[in-house]
Amino acid sequence: MSDASDAHDAHDDAPGGVPGSTGPEAGPSDAAPVHRAHPADYAVEAARLAEAAASSAEHAARRARRALDPAAMRAHYRHEGLREADLAPEPFEQFAHWFHDAEAAGLHEPNAMVLSTVGPEGRPGSRTVLLKAYDRAGFVFFTHYGSRKGRDIEGNPWVSLLFPWHGIARQVVVSGRARRTGRAETTAYFRTRPHGSQLGAWASRQSSAVASREELDELYASLAARYPEGADVPAPPEWGGYRVAPETVEFWQGRENRLHDRLRYRRTDTAWTIERLAP
Ligand SMILES: Cc1cc2nc3c(=O)[nH]c(=O)nc-3n(C[C@H](O)[C@H](O)[C@H](O)COP(=O)(O)O)c2cc1C
Repeated sequence: MSDASDAHDAHDDAPGGVPGSTGPEAGPSDAAPVHRAHPADYAVEAARLAEAAASSAEHAARRARRALDPAAMRAHYRHEGLREADLAPEPFEQFAHWFHDAEAAGLHEPNAMVLSTVGPEGRPGSRTVLLKAYDRAGFVFFTHYGSRKGRDIEGNPWVSLLFPWHGIARQVVVSGRARRTGRAETTAYFRTRPHGSQLGAWASRQSSAVASREELDELYASLAARYPEGADVPAPPEWGGYRVAPETVEFWQGRENRLHDRLRYRRTDTAWTIERLAP
């Protein structure tokens, strides 16, 4: 409490307070040994409490900011282990088990994966894409072939996919070669997309600079006028799928004391071998 006007504001809100009754005897310097139940005391007390509340909220906010220090964040994993004997003979089947587990655990978008590519100057780039199909032949996502990732892949097909299933202390890391899916597969998937997403694929020359949000919206509006809801929207020629054929697939399971399980499948000429990696 430093300002009489603060005291007055608080006084007006104080229960049983008497507006305008603040006097010198009510000031904080009035250190009377015996408590006097003067209405002005309530004003001072209410103001003191308001100030304390504000300062404690500020402290809490400061504490919260401190608590966001990532170095201090430590999750303790106590999950069941992953043993060699439990693994499916092929990574595709093992992935299918874990993908179902991730979905059953209620993880948000368990099909979201981080795709990393390497550009012409050897520089890596990462972004999230959605897994849309998987089978023995590989993991499929759809994108714009002229995007940064598309151009990267055309120059260097080696990519990495990472499924970050933190909610169940698991991750899957795939390393492999990306190839365009056939046009028929792209068209079949494109038809399943909502109308708005179909138009969006035409409206965006992904990864190129745009002058403004308005430019994007106008382009979308002109496409919507040309292809109203229900119209057959063709798949853009520069848009389509990639299938990542895995060379290695690592299954990571968080365990206690950072002694995690890491089991990696590696493709050989005829089959898959499995090795355990140090965590
Ligand atoms: C959850 C999520 C899912 C995404 N799914 C896709 C996708 O399936 N295909 C795609 O091209 N971009 C997807 N994106 C956008 C990409 O992360 C990225 O911004 C875009 O593809 C351009 O990347 P690039 O410039 O590195 O090529 C997704 C983003 C998020 C956050």
